[in-house]
Amino acid sequence: MIKSVIYFLLKSNNAKEPLLVEISEIEGNIFRLKINEKVPFKPRYEVPDVLIKEPVLLQKDADKLVLTCADEDQQLHVTANPFQIQFVCKGEIVWSTNSNGLLYFEHLQPAFFQGGGIRTVALQENQDDLGLWEEKFGKFSDIKANGPSSIGLDFSLHGFEHVYGIPQHAETLLLKNTSDGDVYRLYNLDVFGYKVHSKMGIYGAVPLLLAHKPGRTAGIFWLNSSETLVEIATKAAMEVLSSRTPETSKQRVLPQTDVRWMSESGIIDTFILMGPQPFDIFKQYAELTGTQALPPLFSLGYHQCRWNYEDEDDVEGVDAGFDMHDIPYDVIWLDIEHTDGKRYFTWNKEKFGNPERMQKQILMKKKRKLVVILDPHIKVDPLYTIYSQAKERGYFVKDRKGKDFEGICWPGLSSYLDFTNPEVREWYADQFAFSAYKGSSEILFAWNDMNEPSVFRGVELTMQKDAVHYGKWEHREVHNLYGFYQQMATAEGLIRRSGGLERPFVLTRSFFAGSQKYGAVWTGDNKAKWQYLKISVPMLLTISMAGISFCGADVGGFIGNPEPELLVRWYQAGALQPFFRGHANMNTKRREPWLFGEENTRIIRNAIKERYSLLPYLYALFYRAHKVAEPVMRPVWVEFPKELETFGIEDEYMLGNALLVYPVTEPKVTAVNVFLPGPQEVMKTIINSFISLFYIPLCFYGIPVMQRGGTVIPLKTSVGKSTELMVDVPYELRVALDTKESAVGELYLDDGHSFQYLHEKKFLLRKFTFHKNVFSSRCADENGQFHTKCVVEQILILGIKKQPSSVTASIHDGKDQAVAFTYDAKISVLTLQKLSLNVGIDWVLHIK
Ligand code: NOJ
Repeated sequence: MIKSVIYFLLKSNNAKEPLLVEISEIEGNIFRLKINEKVPFKPRYEVPDVLIKEPVLLQKDADKLVLTCADEDQQLHVTANPFQIQFVCKGEIVWSTNSNGLLYFEHLQPAFFQGGGIRTVALQENQDDLGLWEEKFGKFSDIKANGPSSIGLDFSLHGFEHVYGIPQHAETLLLKNTSDGDVYRLYNLDVFGYKVHSKMGIYGAVPLLLAHKPGRTAGIFWLNSSETLVEIATKAAMEVLSSRTPETSKQRVLPQTDVRWMSESGIIDTFILMGPQPFDIFKQYAELTGTQALPPLFSLGYHQCRWNYEDEDDVEGVDAGFDMHDIPYDVIWLDIEHTDGKRYFTWNKEKFGNPERMQKQILMKKKRKLVVILDPHIKVDPLYTIYSQAKERGYFVKDRKGKDFEGICWPGLSSYLDFTNPEVREWYADQFAFSAYKGSSEILFAWNDMNEPSVFRGVELTMQKDAVHYGKWEHREVHNLYGFYQQMATAEGLIRRSGGLERPFVLTRSFFAGSQKYGAVWTGDNKAKWQYLKISVPMLLTISMAGISFCGADVGGFIGNPEPELLVRWYQAGALQPFFRGHANMNTKRREPWLFGEENTRIIRNAIKERYSLLPYLYALFYRAHKVAEPVMRPVWVEFPKELETFGIEDEYMLGNALLVYPVTEPKVTAVNVFLPGPQEVMKTIINSFISLFYIPLCFYGIPVMQRGGTVIPLKTSVGKSTELMVDVPYELRVALDTKESAVGELYLDDGHSFQYLHEKKFLLRKFTFHKNVFSSRCADENGQFHTKCVVEQILILGIKKQPSSVTASIHDGKDQAVAFTYDAKISVLTLQKLSLNVGIDWVLHIK
C-alpha cells in the first residue's frame, strides 16, 4: 500500500527560493495542493482548527504511485516546468491550475532597523520593493515585519460558466465576471448598511467556490484566513466560424471560468472537490470542515430582537404581547444596553435588576428562552473582573510593541480577547458557568457581535494587521478567523455549563469556513428597503452552499423603518428561511408584529404560524444538514442540476428537496411568475389550496410555496405559544405524488435540546413511502430509539386520480382498521382524518 502523495520542488518565475509542492489525493474524491517555501525564513501561517481532522490520504494497492484517481477514468497530469496540473476525466480537461502562470509567492525576509527608526532590509536586492514593507492608512501605518508575503494561484475550470460561493457579499447568486470591475474581497468587516450588489468584504468569509455544468459540479476550497481577493473571468460558450476548414466550419468553443486567488500571507493550501454531483461537493467540504451543528429545536422558532428591549418590564410586555395577539415565538433578545456599561457578562442594575426572575417567572413558564449579546471587545476598566483577569493573564491581543492592543468600541476604550489562544478560549468558556455569570440561567443563550473584529476609528473599522496574537502571529494572518474562534469558545462555554448535556445556540456575525459547527450566522446590518429583502435570498443561498445552513437576515431590515407592506413580506420570506429573527436598530420605531393594524397583524401571525407548523419538516432538514451536509436552503439548480434554465435562478429556491419557495420581494405584487423546474415534475401549492402552475395569483396573504411531486412533508396540525409547548401536538403528513404516483419523505425526532440523540442514540428517523396506493411508515435508522406518544392525525394526499372505495390501516401486530376519508375530485386531494398512528411505530395504509 502506498499513499497518494507526491512532493517536488519548484522554481517559479518570481520565486527566488524553491517552493515545495505537495499534491495528495484524499479519500472521498478530493485533491489537496499545498505550496510553501521550502525553507522559509520563518514559519508561514498554516490555518489551524478549521479542518476537523487530518485528511486521510487515499491508499492504493500498488508499488508505485500512478497519478490516476480512484476512478480509473480520471487522471492528474502534473508538469513541473512550467508548473501546471491538469485534471482529466474521460479525455477531457476538467480543471487545471497555473495554466495562466499566475502562481506567485513573496518570500519572507529578515529585517532590521537602522538609524532613525527607518526600516531597511538586510537581504533586499530590489530597492523598489521597499515601499511594500510599510503601508500608510491615514494616521496608521502597517509595518510588515518580514516584508510583503502574498501568495496567489490561478485555476481554470474548463466547460464551466456558472460559478457560485465565496460568501459573504451582498451580491447575486451567480458570481460575476470581475474583468472590468471590482474583484471579490474576503475580508471580514463591520459595514453598517452595506451596499447591495457589491463585491466588498462584509462580516464573514468562506473561501469555497463552486462551479457547475450539466453532469459535473466541482469546488475549490482555498484554506487561508488572511485578506483574500478572488478574480473571476468567465468566457461563455461560443460558436466560431472557421473559414479554412469548411467541413468543420462551425466549431463550438467550450466555456471556461478562470479563477485567481490571491491572499495577503500564509501558504497555498487548496482542496479541489471533485463532486461530481452538487451533493457530493457539500459532503466533501463537510469531510474537511464539519457539518452544521444540530440546533436545539427552540432556535428554529421565531426570535424577537431589538436594540434594545429597555428593561424587564419591556421584556415582560413584549412577551405578553405575543400571547395577547396569538403569535408564537420562542426567544427574546437583549442587545448591548442590557449590560452594565457594555461590560459583557453583567447586567444594568437599574433596568435589569432581577434577571433571574425575568427568566424564571416570565420566560421559562412559557418554555421560552433569552439570548444576550457578548461582544469580543472588553472595556478597559480594572474594576471589571473580566478585564482585570484577562489583563493579568495576558489574554488580550497585543500591538506590535507588545502592549495590550487598545481600540474604541461600544464601551469606549477596549482591549480584545485573543480567541486564537486555546487557553483564552478555555477561560472564556468558563465565564458561562452559572457560578461565574451571575443572573444567567439554563435558558440564556448567546449572540456574538462585532467580532470581525470591529474597532471604531481603526483602519476600515477593524484591527490593525500588525497587531500580534498568540504564537506571535500577526493579525493579518488570522483576521478572518477571529469571529470563528469567538463562536467556538462561546458554544463550548454553553455546553460546558450544562455538564456537556445540552446543545448550545450561538449566533455570530463574523464567520469563516467551519463556523457551521458552532451555530448560526446572520447577514448583519441590512436596511429596511425592498432591495435588501431581495438580496437576502442569494446571500443566504450562498452562505448555505458554503456549509452554513443555519443562516438568516434581520426581518424587517435593521436600519430604518419598514413600510408595513415590506415588513409583512419580510415576515413571509423570513418564515421560510433557516434562521428567523426580527431585529431593529436603535432609534427606529417599535415594530413588534402587532403594531401595524389588525390586517397586518393577521398576515404576520399567519406567516409565523406557518413556520411553526412546518417545524417538523425543518428539523428533519437540519438533521440531514447535520448528518450528511445537505444545505437546508438550496438553489434550484442543486435539485435540478441538469437543467440549464435553473442555474441562475435566485428569486426562488428550494427548502429541502420538497418545497419550492418564491418569496415576494417587491411592493404591490398581485401575482408571481414562478419557474417550475423539471419536465417530469409535479408541483402543488400547499399554502393556498389551489393548484395553479406557473402563474400564481396572490392575495397579500399568500406565500407562494409549492410542494414537489414525489415528496412527503411532516407538519404539526396546530401551533402553540412556543416550540416546546408543541411537543405533543399531532402531525399531519402532506404527500404530493409524482407522475408515477409515488412519494417519499422523512421525519426526525429527538428531545429537541440535548446531546442524547448523539451519545445515547435517543432519536427516531422515520421514512414514509407512498407507492402503488400503499402508504407506509418505517424506521429509517435502526440505531436510534426514542419514545414518543405523538401521533399522525391527518394525511393529505395530493394528486390521487380517483376516489378510493376504502382505506384501511394496519398497525404493527394489530388488526386492520377502516380509516375515515374525504376526496375532493376537483383538486385530486384525498384527506385521511381522525387517525391515531404513533409516529414511532411501523404502520401501513392501503388505499383501494
Ligand atoms: C451591530 C449589529 O449588527 C446589530 O445587530 C446590533 O444591534 C448592534 N451591533 C448593537 O449591538
